[in-house]
Amino acid sequence: MALLLNLLKSILWITRRSEKDVIDVYNSLTPFVQLSLADPNNNMLNFGYWTQSTTSPIQAQIQLCKLVGNFADLRSAKKVIDIGSGFCAPAMLWKSMYNNLDITCVDINLKQLTTALQKITLPTTTIAKDDKLYMINRNVDLTKSISLVNAAATRLPFADICVDTIVALESPQHFKPLSGFLRECRRVLKPAGLLVVAIPVLGPNLPNESIILQLAKLGILYFTWASEHYSLDNIKSAIMTEGFEIQEVQHVGHSVYKQCANYYVQNRQVLRQRLKTKRFSYAKSLLIEFVERVIYISALKMKDSSQREIIDYVLIKAVSAGS
Ligand SMILES: C[S@@+](CC[C@H](N)C(=O)[O-])C[C@H]1O[C@@H](n2cnc3c(N)ncnc32)[C@H](O)[C@@H]1O
Repeated sequence: MALLLNLLKSILWITRRSEKDVIDVYNSLTPFVQLSLADPNNNMLNFGYWTQSTTSPIQAQIQLCKLVGNFADLRSAKKVIDIGSGFCAPAMLWKSMYNNLDITCVDINLKQLTTALQKITLPTTTIAKDDKLYMINRNVDLTKSISLVNAAATRLPFADICVDTIVALESPQHFKPLSGFLRECRRVLKPAGLLVVAIPVLGPNLPNESIILQLAKLGILYFTWASEHYSLDNIKSAIMTEGFEIQEVQHVGHSVYKQCANYYVQNRQVLRQRLKTKRFSYAKSLLIEFVERVIYISALKMKDSSQREIIDYVLIKAVSAGS
């Protein structure tokens, strides 16, 4: 019953008003996504960056991680915090690309971090077999340089001025208040340290509209898309207010939503079939059917909204201005 309620709540994305809601949504939806993708080792939790030649979500997600790693100049970073790290799959990938990194993964979801810990402490040979997709260089000892911390983005348990770079990949849309997260980043970053966020935002055709207009234009996405619907201007202004200088903004929505939705629509029958192979109670099967239908309608709406520039996805790089 508790699982059913959790699932039902997760359908109503609008209930993501507290950190507990966010944790529940991920705990109830992630197993179904993994089951429908038939890839229990896919521990990435982002939309991915899709090009003409991308054929699967995991490929797109790896591409997004590489893009963010490059944008954040992780090649020359040393101490990095990844906030909203999920299962730490992006951190594993970055560590395998840039061996110099010492990464601390912060997430509010203890269950995700526990799974991540199991992956990180696997013997290298097993990692190579199970998680080879994330590990570009498989001879890296992850236990020595990836640390896991269960904390909220708005209350970071770190000393002042202790890291070079902070990355938040598709997670700041959950952080409330955003200013609390930015203030904490500014506190722990060294002078001239970098903050890089990848975040779904309202597009130029829906800037700062009233709730009624947002609801009218976003339709079902009002409930099922990013937790908070920030406009780019809101985010930029919050970043600058907290003492950062914005260095670069990249708009990548055109390579995120449309192809991700296309993949879902094209593979819908196969994904549905996979969900049916597992034995669920009648009530749960009905609920799963319903959730799947909501995801399908949302995917169509996401594609349309991206093409009409109602939603976008941006990478923002900001530097902590000296105190
Ligand atoms: C869309 S997932 C992205 C995960 C990961 N960056 C990836 O790309 O695979 C968002 C993550 O943010 C985490 N999160 C949400 N709210 C948080 C908060 N207030 N503090 C820390 N992490 C949070 C969630 O638990 C989830 O793991």
